[in-house]
Amino acid sequence: VAAANGIPVTKAVNFYENDWTAEQEDIITVAEGYDYPLIVKPVSLGSSIGVAIANDREELIDAVETAFRFDAHLLIEEAVNPLMEINCSVMGTPDDCRPSVCEKPLGQSETLSFEDKYQSGGEGDKGMASADRIIPADISGELTKKIQRLATKTFSALDASGLARLDFLVNANTEEVYFNEINTIPGSFSFYLWEKSDLRFDALLEELVDIGLKQHQAKNGRVRSYDTNLLSEKALKGIKGLKGTKN
Ligand SMILES: Nc1ncnc2c1ncn2[C@@H]1O[C@H](COP(=O)(O)OP(=O)(O)O)[C@@H](O)[C@H]1O
Ligand SMILES: [Mg+2]
Repeated sequence: VAAANGIPVTKAVNFYENDWTAEQEDIITVAEGYDYPLIVKPVSLGSSIGVAIANDREELIDAVETAFRFDAHLLIEEAVNPLMEINCSVMGTPDDCRPSVCEKPLGQSETLSFEDKYQSGGEGDKGMASADRIIPADISGELTKKIQRLATKTFSALDASGLARLDFLVNANTEEVYFNEINTIPGSFSFYLWEKSDLRFDALLEELVDIGLKQHQAKNGRVRSYDTNLLSEKALKGIKGLKGTKN
């Protein structure tokens, strides 16, 4: 969907476990058409579970087999390198939405793993909320605007509404930006981003409820049923071959 809407995404091939069994060589050939390092990820999981970096063919096959333990549908992507991650939350409806400030999560130099995200600390660990991050991201105003524009454009293209956090991968050298993923509620309220965008939590909730109500009304305003006497006797008589109707 993103690619069809002109939103930049990394080069990627996706396939199912059956494909891998039947045409492993072909999949590897496509993937190796991109440059190593390659990123292997389960399509439907989150929190970096099963995500791995492969620097050569052996690691690639290894990563794929590991990822299949988590999901039968995988992605192999060209890695963005050197990587800078920037996230931006968006709130509203597809045709009326606005971005929050951007954040720069400070990941490890290697892929931020599930262990890093959720299992690093002991007591009092708040998962992502406690991970290191810079808000607003220490990037140029120009790059910030570019990412915010891309964030709202992607939000609309995906027909999202309410609130979501969109994650981007930025090549730290060239500042090329790629859309990586969207995290919807309940995965993320992104409140920490709206707080720094001068929106209080109660105001955020109010606005979300408002958006929900408006969307609901808009939906109810549409014709979703069509009144007809399809089952009236007259209509039934007209249906040829209908069994059980007299006459
Ligand atoms: N194409 C890529 N290039 C470099 N790093 C990547 C790439 N894709 C993902 N990563 C790294 O892996 C992490 C997890 O990937 P992501 O697609 O966000 O999966 P999840 O849904 O599990 O969060 C990202 O936060 C990023 O650090
Ligand atoms: Mg992620």
